[in-house]
Amino acid sequence: MDLHVADHPLIAHKLTVLRDRSTDSARFRTLTDELVTLLAYEATRKIRIAPATITTPVAETTGTALDSPRPLVVPILRAGLGMLEGMLRILPTAEVGFLGMVRDDETFEVHAYAERLPADLTGRQVFVLDPMLATGGTLAMAIDFLLARGVSDVTAICLVSAPEGVEAITEKYEGVAQVTVHTAALDERLNEHGYIVPGLGDAGDRLYGVV
Ligand code: URA
Repeated sequence: MDLHVADHPLIAHKLTVLRDRSTDSARFRTLTDELVTLLAYEATRKIRIAPATITTPVAETTGTALDSPRPLVVPILRAGLGMLEGMLRILPTAEVGFLGMVRDDETFEVHAYAERLPADLTGRQVFVLDPMLATGGTLAMAIDFLLARGVSDVTAICLVSAPEGVEAITEKYEGVAQVTVHTAALDERLNEHGYIVPGLGDAGDRLYGVV
């Protein structure tokens, strides 16, 4: 697994405000959106391209177009939804699939409650959006859904990651699939409730309020 931890002062600043418990939901949503766009810039560095011939007002020239098939963006509901607009801002022609997953508070087991993905994803580049890479259970289940549909190249964008989750994903997909994670921060650890420390709390609750 390839791990990229962002190293940019604007990302560090925005993440610090995001983490602050006094940041309200409206500001949290705006910061999430901005952070995803910044992370997406690097995360799309290996996006597949093809030459494209166009005519400027002055001359014909060969430039660059995104190759087909179009990339697929998959936010993991609920919290990943807060990352979708920030991603589509930089990749407006991407197709969007959805996965709904919830983690049991006691056992940390992940349960999928919704899936809306194209049946055949062979050869597609896929970007999974999930703000918190904690135990890795949610991301692993999402990757398994994608591998079952023929994907071999998955990039996850996570705002905050825990070493435990990074290790779990690295071990599980070593020699199985090309998995890349772009994150704004690699935090210290998970606590006994499965929350990332120092983290930012429950990303879904902070984006949308407590259900
Ligand atoms: N999910 C969250 O929303 N926050 C964490 O810290 C871990 C998992």
